[in-house]
Amino acid sequence: MTHLIIYAHPSEDSFSRQLVDRIKQCSEPLNTVIVRDLYAMDFNAVLKKEELNNLKKGIIAEDVDKEQAFVEDADLISVVYPLWWASFPAILKGYIDRVFSYGFAYRSGKNGMEGLLTGRAVVMHTSMGNSVSEDDQDNLLPNLTAIHGHEVFGFCDMDLMQHFFYPEIISATELEKEAFIENTVAYYKELFISERN
Ligand SMILES: Cc1cc2nc3c(=O)[nH]c(=O)nc-3n(C[C@H](O)[C@H](O)[C@H](O)COP(=O)(O)O)c2cc1C
Repeated sequence: MTHLIIYAHPSEDSFSRQLVDRIKQCSEPLNTVIVRDLYAMDFNAVLKKEELNNLKKGIIAEDVDKEQAFVEDADLISVVYPLWWASFPAILKGYIDRVFSYGFAYRSGKNGMEGLLTGRAVVMHTSMGNSVSEDDQDNLLPNLTAIHGHEVFGFCDMDLMQHFFYPEIISATELEKEAFIENTVAYYKELFISERN
């Protein structure tokens, strides 16, 4: 498989970084792994007027074209990011705005909008400051999966396989973080075994 990891965190010492490194490490012996580190790339996250107009003429910006090729080639996409104001960090939101563009990721069909990225599996990873019990009160986690997952990746006809939440990361001990990571790595190992059979 080709495994694309889309990663959005500015800090080298973040939990998200640890997670990406370990996902990469467990995937590499079995898959072609490509990590797109949006901060390291200094990805231009603002979709502006000219680009939006160009899109209507079928003109794709060079940096977007490059990212779309990675998405196109991917069988599995892992998305790793911290929860910022109940949303994606702006750089990731902008990546989605620009890369999952009309005509590439979705289009208007006979029966309304149709996704064009059929067949790609997606696993999402969201680290959080809040506890699950705090957010459960508002049923927040299923809503986040609906909005961040199904409304984005599902909308493009990708298959959202799993959405991991990592609560209370700010106050978690190294042992607690390691337990989260081991659970995630075990999930990927199972996934890779089932893909091979
Ligand atoms: C700008 C900003 C906004 C945040 N908003 C939220 C939030 O809405 N909900 C939440 O649970 N945590 C929020 N946090 C906390 C982060 O999610 C938390 O610091 C991060 O997940 C910890 O993992 P990391 O080490 O990968 O950064 C926010 C943090 C920042 C910097």
